[in-house]
Amino acid sequence: MGIRQIVTEGDEILSKVCRPVEKFDERLAQLLDDMYETMNHADGIGIAAPQVGILRRALVIDLGEGDGKIELINPEFLEQKGEQTFQEGCLSCPGQWGETKRPAYVKIRAQDRQGGFFEMEAEGPLAVACCHEIDHLNGILFKERLIGELEIEGKE
Ligand code: NI
Repeated sequence: MGIRQIVTEGDEILSKVCRPVEKFDERLAQLLDDMYETMNHADGIGIAAPQVGILRRALVIDLGEGDGKIELINPEFLEQKGEQTFQEGCLSCPGQWGETKRPAYVKIRAQDRQGGFFEMEAEGPLAVACCHEIDHLNGILFKERLIGELEIEGKE
């Protein structure tokens, strides 16, 4: 495989609740590798499995800021604190941006690609990215979190 096609807004896949990952096998590893490749190719900083048409609870993030690659399988929030506003976009909604309100801090429990459990904490843009991608696993797009106008490229 390699670069996969990104599902865009309007496709009902993006509004479905994804099922947990149950098999931590070669197929999952391939999916995650392909998700990175697809995300990087599209100049994104995060992508969730439903965005490549797979309705499973898996996502990858790479803000390119030293946190490195982050992959979260079956993520759950343990804690959410505070508030921040952030200008978000989404690979599935090309050319569209808008300001959203997100928690300032999140603590997450997830599994790695081998199935091992771990916890992580995030603040700032990484917290936003985690929330945005976990939303995808629940069929929610950032546009449902807007607190202001949606900005559309090329439109005044
Ligand atoms: Ni997105």
